Amino acid sequence: MAGLDGKELILGVSGSIAAYKAVYLLRELTRRGARVTVCLTDHASRFVGPLTFRTLSGRPVLTDLFDPQSDAAVEHVALAERADALIVAPATANVLAKAAHGLADDFLSTLLLAARCPVLMAPAMDGGMWDHAAVVTNVATLRQRGVVVLDPDAGALASGLAGRGRLPESDVIIETLLGMLTAVRDLTGERVLVTAGPTRESIDPVRFITNRSSGKMGYRIAAAARRRGADVVLVSGPTGLTPPAGALFVPVDSAEEMREAVLQHLPKTTIVIKAAAVADYRVRQQATEKIKGKRDLTLDLVPNPDILAEVAARKTGAFIVGFAAETNDLAANARAKLEAKGIDLLVGNDVSRRDIGFDAEDNEVLLVDRWGGAEALPRMPKDAVADAVLSRVLALRATAVAKVRR
Ligand code: PMT
Repeated sequence: MAGLDGKELILGVSGSIAAYKAVYLLRELTRRGARVTVCLTDHASRFVGPLTFRTLSGRPVLTDLFDPQSDAAVEHVALAERADALIVAPATANVLAKAAHGLADDFLSTLLLAARCPVLMAPAMDGGMWDHAAVVTNVATLRQRGVVVLDPDAGALASGLAGRGRLPESDVIIETLLGMLTAVRDLTGERVLVTAGPTRESIDPVRFITNRSSGKMGYRIAAAARRRGADVVLVSGPTGLTPPAGALFVPVDSAEEMREAVLQHLPKTTIVIKAAAVADYRVRQQATEKIKGKRDLTLDLVPNPDILAEVAARKTGAFIVGFAAETNDLAANARAKLEAKGIDLLVGNDVSRRDIGFDAEDNEVLLVDRWGGAEALPRMPKDAVADAVLSRVLALRATAVAKVRR
């Protein structure tokens, strides 16, 4: 199971307005079980003070290499050698340049020279700087040396300019980090099709029916599959999430669009995982103009196609996993749904709880398979659930193949 439990990390923060986002990144890293030592550059500490990072990490913050009060200053080489990974987020153009040229004039640049662990740099800088020849060359140098330098996101920048220079989302930084730390590539050669998020069923041009799915569960599965070496297609309803790097992203709106996308990408798929919360109904006839007035309104709803059952009925040879969102009798309903849809594995979750299921960071699932197996997993972060589901798929498929051969 991939995770950050017990990982020893160094988080370097350099002087950009995006330094405040490092606070959220730190919180997420520690929530996932990492032990994090934060190193702030002088400029970074003008944006966010060391106390914030100290409070969240529970550790002294490294700032001044020459602080006679600090043992850490003496131990910096040992610290860099001991770490499982060093992340620099945000990494300014200045820090990228210092790392590329081997300068060591402050704590962070010295750590970067001393580090023997994987290094991940998440740049943030103002408009146009990312494309400057000097930055391009420095990034190329670092990448050649094996440093993972993410591309910054495009969008509005603090200066008022727009362009590529925004700090990549925490999700992307963490997924990349997990990929660097996870040696297991047991899904190499697989093509995994994942659905995620809600669907939207339009009533009129401005209104729609939907549900509370955030997409987190499906996106974590797509990211874990990608990390483990699979080719991934992520068919997603509307969410506010960033798709995992390297996955083929297919955005859709309605259940019918999702069905079309899934069927289009089904050939060559070896594992299908349907975590999406597909709306069961859509309105028979969408209004072409905004429905007006305060009068009573009755919607005429018709059932949406059952995509999962249709995929299973096609018997393409892919291993098929469905999810079941239940509010009662989880075990019985999950088994009934597994059989009704004719699939291989069903992941049941209790969506009446606020701490798991819809729009939660964690999930607690029951795995029910068509060979009679059932296992309840404890509550855990969704990326750990994702890894557990993928591992179960591989184990079940191996056992099924072995049985056929016997
Ligand atoms: O997105 P999050 O906020 O992270 O929340 C995660 C989740 C709660 C959405 C997820 O864990 C989950 O339970 N997903 C399935 C939700 C659902 O629609 O359950 P269901 O019991 O109604 O459907 C059973 C299965 O059939 C699902 O795999 C669903 O994708 C599929 N289905 C349902 C209806 C339909 N018309 N077509 C389908 O393919």
